[in-house]
Amino acid sequence: MPKNKVITEILHNKNKTPKNKCGVSFAPSNIALCKYWGKRNELLNLPLTNSLSISLGDKGATTKIEISESATDKIYLNGIEVSEYNNFYKRISDFLNLFRFETNYKYIVQTTTNIPVAAGVASSACGFAALAKSVNNLFGWELEDKYLSIIARLGSGSASRSIWHGFVEWHKGLFDKIGMDSYAERLDYTWEELRVGLLLIDTNAKKISSREAMRLSVLNSPFYSIWPEEVSRSINLVKKALEEKNFSLLGETTEKNAICMHAIMQTTTPPILYSNKNTIDMMHKIWDLRKDGMPIYFTQDAGPNLKLLFLEKDLSAIKEYFPDMQVAIPFHDNPGLKTGQ
Ligand code: PMV
Repeated sequence: MPKNKVITEILHNKNKTPKNKCGVSFAPSNIALCKYWGKRNELLNLPLTNSLSISLGDKGATTKIEISESATDKIYLNGIEVSEYNNFYKRISDFLNLFRFETNYKYIVQTTTNIPVAAGVASSACGFAALAKSVNNLFGWELEDKYLSIIARLGSGSASRSIWHGFVEWHKGLFDKIGMDSYAERLDYTWEELRVGLLLIDTNAKKISSREAMRLSVLNSPFYSIWPEEVSRSINLVKKALEEKNFSLLGETTEKNAICMHAIMQTTTPPILYSNKNTIDMMHKIWDLRKDGMPIYFTQDAGPNLKLLFLEKDLSAIKEYFPDMQVAIPFHDNPGLKTGQ
């Protein structure tokens, strides 16, 4: 199993018995400004391109893990036990298979999130990142963030970025067969005034997973071949925007990158369309507002919900148009920005 090889390499000189009674960690959700769309290795979640994201401050997942005495893992989400037939249970339990060692440990995992699960608001990203950090705490390994990012990626690609606060770039890696060079790192930019609005249009679980949608896109969209060039162009422009604090450049580049990704999905066979009528209405509303001089942009992931980018000074005006919007403050009093934790 290639995932086991990665874990063996990372933990080769580490203890395999827990040092602590439990491990607890928080990881922020993250929204890609330049998206990850397409894998070169599906087992290891190795991407075809780099990607760049912003973490959502205190919006994310907190996970506690401890050893269980029972014969199976016990998994709780927001206080409710998850059935072992549930896909969420299966994903967590499969990930934990990497850490059973010779003792065949079973675990109790308790996760609480303050964002909707499986609605394209990057819940799996913060979930796997928090889990990777908690396992590290339980065993007392003190792994570097780079290795936590690699481990989190084995759960979900975008989780590699949720190890960090702030702006984060995930390097696709290139040379290592098992992907030891594919991890995320924090970029040295801050933007105190930046806000991310979450427009929850539909919080039901998505009909097609991002994994399957990516696979089809790479396999048969006639437009996939332009994607790597689009992403590297977008990443350069976003970095320029962050350097210059040029908000319209940041917003335009982010929005266009998301629209390109969705155009690729729509041109797969069978076509994939995550937007519903309300999503399209909201897009028009955002474009109309922009025409009237309001600096507001959107991005969209593998779901119908939109994420808005705007600046603090426009918050109250924007709230009037989108009263139900939840607001994330990426750079607000965040100790993690200084320590990298
Ligand atoms: O990490 P996954 O498998 O949930 O894929 C995430 C894909 C997008 O959210 C659409 C883009 C991204 O970079 O987060």
